[in-house]
Amino acid sequence: MNDFLAERRELVGALEEKRFFDRIMYEHAQFMRAGVDPTEEAAFREADRFAVVIRELWERVMATPATASDEKIEALIRENLRVITPFQEFEADAAAAIAACRLLAITPADLVRHLAVETVFFLGILKRVEGLPTPFRSELELPNGNKRALLYPRLSFVDHRNMLGTLAFEYGMFWTQRHMEHAAVLALFFRPGIQEEYTRLMLRYEKKFQEVLDLGKMVFARDGVIDTRGEDRDHHPLTPAIVNWINEVIAVTKEFRDVMAAIVRQQVSCTIPSGQANFWPLLGDHIRREADYLIDAMHRILAATGQPPRSDHFPHPRPYETDWRDR
Ligand SMILES: [Fe+2]
Ligand SMILES: [Fe+2]
Repeated sequence: MNDFLAERRELVGALEEKRFFDRIMYEHAQFMRAGVDPTEEAAFREADRFAVVIRELWERVMATPATASDEKIEALIRENLRVITPFQEFEADAAAAIAACRLLAITPADLVRHLAVETVFFLGILKRVEGLPTPFRSELELPNGNKRALLYPRLSFVDHRNMLGTLAFEYGMFWTQRHMEHAAVLALFFRPGIQEEYTRLMLRYEKKFQEVLDLGKMVFARDGVIDTRGEDRDHHPLTPAIVNWINEVIAVTKEFRDVMAAIVRQQVSCTIPSGQANFWPLLGDHIRREADYLIDAMHRILAATGQPPRSDHFPHPRPYETDWRDR
């Protein structure tokens, strides 16, 4: 393996992750801003301050091409760590405050905690690329919690072929659990009596994702990826059972992704029964993009086994937050 190419791929990989996640982080701040009780001025202003700063950072990331110098990309990663680290603390504090009834909000405490955990995942990728200690698995709510996560960016999967089992575990299990939570929280948000069909549909997906999660626990335990012994045992290539599990994740997530896309279309055209739902269309679109992210990560793990390393090119995501109105 050419180390120079691998190092460069890791940096460009971090830039690619930032393109996806800085938008996600910006939206987390928007959700928090829109979710607190109108009397919670301080929390509203703090969430709004984060939204403005992260939005600005995201725009700079989007304007930075994959051909930018190492120094330029590294500076953006450091700035991202500086901005997003306190934002993660804000999310975690707000979740605890809502749960303890110290902060009044309509967003469930569990949803805000969910946002905070996703932020740990993103920060973990940046820390990996910066050579800083990555989060413990427990911080990502993964089994075998006292082990640190790998969290290589997706573009670097090809450089760690002997660890694809561990990467499938981290990306696959983490995001399957997040989608289980998405389905559970959306089941609370559809209108009682009017949209009960959607509520039932979401409860079905919650169950499906739970089943995939349980199957994953079994597969990864049997193939040694969930290992309570030793610290340095990340060398787990893909096994046929893990490949089957990945295909299961892709199948369920694709279905869920299409359901979310259809719901958002109904929300933005006000054709959903009663015209609206009790959650923002942006939340539906955000979840749909997080489903695309999981599908993409799983495809890249499968692709990393055989194909030659990709070039530094990656496709542009759709750039702006209003794009869901056009579809
Ligand atoms: Fe999110
Ligand atoms: Fe999420």
